[in-house]
Amino acid sequence: MKFLKSSVLFISMACIVPVCSIAREKSERITRAEIEQKSADEFINGLMSRMTVDEKIGQLNLPSYGNVMPNPKKSEIASRIVRGEVGGIFNIFGVDAIRQLQEVAVKESRLGIPIIVGADICNGYKTVFPIPLGLSCSWKPENIEEVARISAKEVGADGICWTYSPMVDISHDARWGRVKEGAGEDPFLGGIMAQAWVRGYQGNDLSADTTLMACVKHYALYGAAEAGRDYNTVDMSRVTAMNYYMRPYQAAVEAGVGSIMTSFNEFESIPATGNTWLLNDVLRKQWGFNGFVVSDFTAIAEMVNHGIGNSQEVGVKALKAGVDMDMIADCYHAVLKKSLEEGKITEAKIDSACRRILIAKYQLGLFHDPYKYCNPKRAAKEFLSVNNVSAARRIAAESFVLLKNDNNLLPLKGCRKVAVVGPLADSKANMAGSWKYDEQTKSYHGLVEDLQESLGNGVEVVFAKGSNLVDDSVYEANFTDQNRSTRDDRSDEQLIAEALKVAEGADVIIAALGESIDMSGEGASRAILEMPQTQKKLLDAIQKTGKPIVMVLFTGRPLALQSEEKQVNAILNVWFGGTEAGAAIADVLTGKVSPTGKLTMSFPRVTGQCPIYYNHKMTGRPMSPDAWYTRYVSNYIDVLNEPLYPFGYGLSYTTYTYGDVSLNTNSMDANGKIQASVIVTNTGAQDGEEIVQLYLRDIVRSITPPVQELKGFKRVALKAGESKKVTFDIDVDMLKFYDSTLDYVAEPGEFQVMIGGNSKEVKTASFTLK
Ligand code: NOJ
Repeated sequence: MKFLKSSVLFISMACIVPVCSIAREKSERITRAEIEQKSADEFINGLMSRMTVDEKIGQLNLPSYGNVMPNPKKSEIASRIVRGEVGGIFNIFGVDAIRQLQEVAVKESRLGIPIIVGADICNGYKTVFPIPLGLSCSWKPENIEEVARISAKEVGADGICWTYSPMVDISHDARWGRVKEGAGEDPFLGGIMAQAWVRGYQGNDLSADTTLMACVKHYALYGAAEAGRDYNTVDMSRVTAMNYYMRPYQAAVEAGVGSIMTSFNEFESIPATGNTWLLNDVLRKQWGFNGFVVSDFTAIAEMVNHGIGNSQEVGVKALKAGVDMDMIADCYHAVLKKSLEEGKITEAKIDSACRRILIAKYQLGLFHDPYKYCNPKRAAKEFLSVNNVSAARRIAAESFVLLKNDNNLLPLKGCRKVAVVGPLADSKANMAGSWKYDEQTKSYHGLVEDLQESLGNGVEVVFAKGSNLVDDSVYEANFTDQNRSTRDDRSDEQLIAEALKVAEGADVIIAALGESIDMSGEGASRAILEMPQTQKKLLDAIQKTGKPIVMVLFTGRPLALQSEEKQVNAILNVWFGGTEAGAAIADVLTGKVSPTGKLTMSFPRVTGQCPIYYNHKMTGRPMSPDAWYTRYVSNYIDVLNEPLYPFGYGLSYTTYTYGDVSLNTNSMDANGKIQASVIVTNTGAQDGEEIVQLYLRDIVRSITPPVQELKGFKRVALKAGESKKVTFDIDVDMLKFYDSTLDYVAEPGEFQVMIGGNSKEVKTASFTLK
């Protein structure tokens, strides 16, 4: 990201007013002249030379605004801003409230430094898009870039200039509720998606009011929490960290991300928020990150609970390790001055943290125009524009994954009556996913409504809830936001009887099952990924009707569907699709859109297989591919090793075959390149788009290799009956890995090339790296 020169920025008269009036008071406040005439460095040096230690520490403080307050200027936060104790705030929305607090900062604090205003804008703002895990299943970075660009425009019209996104934590464990916020299990794909998010949010000019500063999170390794339990311990080798988990964070840094958020977990027995190896040695020194680091919510203070010191000690550790901004904990505010006086930290450390935050504000253009994101006229133009809403519909449909489609049951054809049953069938509140602020779910459509509209009046669409989400109302109350509760007081039997009644005479039953939005996300780990009993009972009952069943699966994570998979004829996994979810689902069910999504996270057969991921190691006693079970090899007595649906898997309304892999040469020089090609044919009756995937396997190397690793993919449009040659370039960088000394190397020897439509069904060839 380029560092802006003040001279290139246009300053409107409106924004000059506060600064000039401040200057006339002969205070030490920022003047228009210094902003306009000095270079960024000179300006920030000059400003910092006038700052007291308390004011510098104030810049490191990030409180949350919290609940809506009638008069922001009279809030406790406003008085703290006046005292110079606040560098930024978050959880405040709306141009008016934000402008009021910005005015307090600019006009009433001693130096007039504007605040940076953040929020978790993770998959859209007013226009809500599918959850990020769903977005990644499009394998279309351009979709993610578009989502980020639209989010930036909408939220930048509502006063906000900094988003806590993208979340790029790799996870192998669907029990972890936050898998919904990331791009799945693969570091290569995760890196590509991370860069798309950053490009979309930040654009080419961070100072524009249509762009946002991104914050990649959660650094680092948060997705590897033991047993998939949120906030839990992470323990792994550095080699595993570098080879499996770190790439997406690094990719975001390479794309110029402006800020990075630490994670709650520990690594190597040191919390990430105080971890010098992560924050200094890797992030800053090795990757050259020069933006600012913010802690996660109270993560600095939580280091006390981790057992590595009292609040002063943990505050010192965080600052020394490289955390610039303290989210919520108020720990820096409480302890840094004292620690400086006691010689536990240097002023230089405080200075560098403060400088990085001031630079970010400068890059965002806040010094030039503190109110630039507070233009009240923009909202009407940006929010839910026709373009945004139509993008939401298209992008949602591309996030869906068709997991099963026996006898081409989908798309629906020739139906006169369609019965839609299940606890997610008509729930508007469950369309949006997490991290939404103005979900406007009252104006959302449910699936039933949109399906009826799409099928037209000639088809009768009937609905019955059929079951609650889970059996136990107390359990449901644990995880359900009160406003979204749709619990029905009738018994399972009554609900099922109603479903069977409405299904009478139906040609097909659509069973909208899975989990609600509150069952995944932060603090929503699950130890049981199987379908709740109450939904199972409904499925058993409708199966007995003998009618064809399409399961429309709503979920924020892979679920364990070993038995349900056998009970239904088709499964369309729709995640949580956002504003246009209902319409997009109807588009796919009726065949207006052919599904193209492919899984970016393996679906286990049963929960006990977790963690499960495609790029695993071999073990010394690998399971034979043909055996169900063999004693004394690495397998289970009660379930296969393989997932139910593997990474990269997804069907469409047409079918494809892959020819053999051909290589232009079977040996590669140390600086060379080879080409691997395959002929892909659309063997079905419909035009389609296939995601062709390239995997590599290093056969022998100095540390044990994974069985395969994704290294490339291409989307290919194929008309019915058409064949195309798809070629991948393979160069030596694609063969590199971190060895036991953490050198990034490619070792000579044999490599296997695998190309296919998912990670398991591949054609192979081999070459040697000389
Ligand atoms: C805690 C979450 O872990 C993080 O993702 C989020 O950005 C912050 N809270 C702020 O809401």
